[in-house]
Amino acid sequence: MILCANFKANKTRQETRAYMAVVESFVSANAIEDTIIVFPPFTALEHIPRNVLIGVQNAYPVSNGAFTGEIALEQLEEFDIKTILIGHSERRHVLGETQEQIAEKFRFFAEQGFVIVYCVGEPLTIREQGNEALMRYIDDQFVGIDLSYPDLILAYEPVWAIGTGLTPSNDEIEAVHTALRLKTTAPLLYGGSVKVDNAGEIMALGNVDGVLVGSASLSANDFCEMIAQAAELKQ
Ligand code: PGA
Repeated sequence: MILCANFKANKTRQETRAYMAVVESFVSANAIEDTIIVFPPFTALEHIPRNVLIGVQNAYPVSNGAFTGEIALEQLEEFDIKTILIGHSERRHVLGETQEQIAEKFRFFAEQGFVIVYCVGEPLTIREQGNEALMRYIDDQFVGIDLSYPDLILAYEPVWAIGTGLTPSNDEIEAVHTALRLKTTAPLLYGGSVKVDNAGEIMALGNVDGVLVGSASLSANDFCEMIAQAAELKQ
């Protein structure tokens, strides 16, 4: 299983340190073999060896240059960052990133050999139009994306389920993941209102290889509990 914690614009550097201490000791104390990835804010990056992967939530697809307010490859290299989230719904729908810009980021960071957690997902109006419309919408989010990239992790996150407490039914999640499985061999994560109460059953679904957790990952104890649920599934 792969479990990701996406902090978004939450947690200070100090809070992230305390969080990492809890998660890292949990991972070693329980000999966790699942892949754990934490995406803290840029300000909390530190260059220290860890037993979990640290990724960034975004970056600009250049080595360096005149891009005010952005962070590029050179700055990530300083912290030994090799993992990035691309195409998150908040970048698409709140910050206005186009598929073209997203595909350019994907190409650039794939060329650099990054692990890419690539997010797709439909708004509610599309979901209400049925499965065909849903898959067509997701197909548009694959334009310019190499689905055979070896370090790709694909996250299905319905826009209407993110931060809302709403989730598709288990059957609905499984149906989308089964359709995605026909398109790529990449691990498939589900994201959108995953929490301690539903993580275990979601991870147990067919073609679900892990979860991408926002709000509920902000509690280190809750995130560790989800990691424990993943470990239990293996037994
Ligand atoms: P959520 O966010 O868990 O708060 O719904 C998920 C995400 O945005 O990745």
